[in-house]
Amino acid sequence: MIRIACLLLLAFAGFPGLLNAQEPPAGLTAAQRGEWLLLNKPFIKADFDQQTFDEIWKIWPDQLKEKAEKATPKQRRQMAFSRYGLTKRLNDSSGKPLQYLVTEQGGWVMNCHSCHSGKVAGKVIPGVPNSLFAMQTLLEETRTIKPQLGKQLTSKEIASVFFPLGGTIGTTNAVIFGVALGTFRDAEMNVVTNVTVPTLLHHDMDTPAWWHYKKKKQIYIDGFAEKNHRVLMSFALIRSNSSEKYRSFENDFKDISAYIESLEAPAYPFAIDEELALRGKEVFNDHCVQCHGTYGEKELYPERTVAIDEIGTDPVRLRALPVRYREGLKNSWVGEYGKLNTITDPEGYVAPPLDGIWATAPYFHNGSVPTLWHVLHPEQRPTVWQRTENGYDQKNVGLEIKTFEKVPRGIKDPAERRTYFNTKKFGKKNTGHTYPNDLNEEEKQAVLEYLKSI
Ligand code: HEC
Ligand code: HEC
Repeated sequence: MIRIACLLLLAFAGFPGLLNAQEPPAGLTAAQRGEWLLLNKPFIKADFDQQTFDEIWKIWPDQLKEKAEKATPKQRRQMAFSRYGLTKRLNDSSGKPLQYLVTEQGGWVMNCHSCHSGKVAGKVIPGVPNSLFAMQTLLEETRTIKPQLGKQLTSKEIASVFFPLGGTIGTTNAVIFGVALGTFRDAEMNVVTNVTVPTLLHHDMDTPAWWHYKKKKQIYIDGFAEKNHRVLMSFALIRSNSSEKYRSFENDFKDISAYIESLEAPAYPFAIDEELALRGKEVFNDHCVQCHGTYGEKELYPERTVAIDEIGTDPVRLRALPVRYREGLKNSWVGEYGKLNTITDPEGYVAPPLDGIWATAPYFHNGSVPTLWHVLHPEQRPTVWQRTENGYDQKNVGLEIKTFEKVPRGIKDPAERRTYFNTKKFGKKNTGHTYPNDLNEEEKQAVLEYLKSI
């Protein structure tokens, strides 16, 4: 008897997770708890289960399906990761993706990494925008395979029939998810149904790098929201989370915020011409520093907003957040009832910090420009481009791409169509930010080298 009791005691002492698998182990720092929570605590419902993911290849286009059929389960999983823009976790041999947490029951729950962590030049980097995430394709295909497996669709999958998730890989309609979810909440975050939904300006956004978060007082490209853990919680505003449950996540999001705050920009992994970079630093200090700040020993970040007509990049994102939505957020629990600095009529976009910029291609808030060379040569930006999965262009600094005049005709597989970035589409313009035109070619080369080094 005593032995059994001791064993039980040991079991619980040794595996505190058994008592409550949703709380992080004791003894971690806030940032470590945040990191743990992202991979272990589901804040929203599972999108699909393990079997669905394992069998999804059965609905792929013929050629790919034949290849998958002959492959081992491990290879097949790799093919699925590649198709949907998922990666392995760092220092983890479980085979689970970084971008989804997998519950003990085998449910796959999307987490913040789905958009916020991915790979660059084939290497996983936490906090680097997931520029390969194919959210629309993944949900479309789980939606198709599920009925064949006798499984029920989730409300997200049903919504995705008429609500666009992302037209190009690596970018998502995330901002409008927030607007749509926020519309159905009152100031206390209770679910309300009797509301008029504002006109939704669907548009795709590129995710910002998480390591810039610590430099900012206001977040998002228009800087409208004061940095605060509550603002990050909009992800959990799904209907099945009551106000009470939603707010019960508050401490978790303090930890998640601490984790994001702890991330550092990754160093450029290839050779740098130090002399050229040094010359580039001078050019940068003359032409770019007033908006983008300084790097190295003395870091300064001015967090400067540039009026939309002056910056000239795609204006849709600025217009897409209605004043009513911004005011609603400001006067709610999320905005601490007006205490937080929520700007309801921002005039443009905030110049982001540029450390780790080598890793965060494509550029601008909509991800329309594939390399830093193209940022520096506004007239030569490609109209349509397609990237490789793991290539890295060291010369132009950014994605390895092919360029096109138009999206080729006759592509049947929607997943493949979404690998073409078409700057002619709504919200995807690659215009503006013409400041580099003040530089001659030599100066541009030098700045390009300098940008690798920060
Ligand atoms: C579907 C994709 C997606 C998911 C999932 C997602 N985000 Fe984001 N996140 C974005 C996009 C896009 C932006 C930029 C929005 C803007 O600037 O208007 C953003 C912005 C942010 C920012 C502000 C960064 C800055 O520098 O201004 C933070 C912090 C952040 N997200 C944290 C989170 C957390 C925490 C989660 C999970 C609870 C999460 N995100 C889930 C797409 C996503
Ligand atoms: C007047 C302010 C201003 C000046 C001067 C300026 N920029 Fe910017 N820059 C911005 C703004 C604002 C954005 C964000 C635009 C967007 O995403 O729509 C931006 C975006 C960028 C980006 C893309 C960042 C990302 O994460 O996608 C790079 C790279 C960049 N600038 C480099 C430079 C360089 C190099 C110079 C100097 C030659 C320069 N900028 C001069 C305001 C400025």
